[in-house]
Amino acid sequence: MIAIYPGSFDPVTNGHLDIIERAAALFDEIIVAVAPNTGKEPLFSAEERKEMLIEACRGIDNVCIDSFEGLLVEYARKTKAQVIVKGLRALSDFQYEFEMALTNRKLSPSIETMFLMTCAENSYLSSSIVKEIAALGGSVVGLAPDFVAERLRQKAREGIRRDIP
Ligand code: COA
Repeated sequence: MIAIYPGSFDPVTNGHLDIIERAAALFDEIIVAVAPNTGKEPLFSAEERKEMLIEACRGIDNVCIDSFEGLLVEYARKTKAQVIVKGLRALSDFQYEFEMALTNRKLSPSIETMFLMTCAENSYLSSSIVKEIAALGGSVVGLAPDFVAERLRQKAREGIRRDIP
């Protein structure tokens, strides 16, 4: 069975990787799909986010990395995925995830959404938190892979250079 794990992954964190590894053990194939979230202005381009996911998922055989625009259910139909996997962190995620799952079911009743509980140590983690810590010069060790930390530092340097007239 094929499952899609969609998200903005701006950037991928250890919380996402925990979900990917656990989902990979449950399904024949996991498509980790970088998708635009219309409510967010990303720091990394879709191509950069894909590159980081490819690097992070090296070694997990049944994971493939892709991106799409438009409706998730359309992308699921195109890729023949029957399940959408989402990570559920805290109670605060529930309302939003519940709305999305019900909307996706309305749009395409044959595609099921499955939630995997985030492990306790990642329950507070988000891409925004990782970006904020890195932007303020803090260490993201244990929150995101080392190479993601380096890409964040690189972005910060580029930002500073852009600010210099
Ligand atoms: N560990 C750590 N962080 C996690 C996590 C986990 N297990 N699960 C979620 N997060 C974080 C994400 O990094 C993200 O952080 P951010 O807000 O700081 O960027 C936040 O929690 C929300 O994640 P998620 O709910 O997956 O939202 P998203 O913005 O990453 O992705 C899409 C949302 C892209 C999946 C959704 O907008 C979509 O399906 N778009 C396609 C268009 C469509 O079909 N729309 C109709 C759907 S109703």
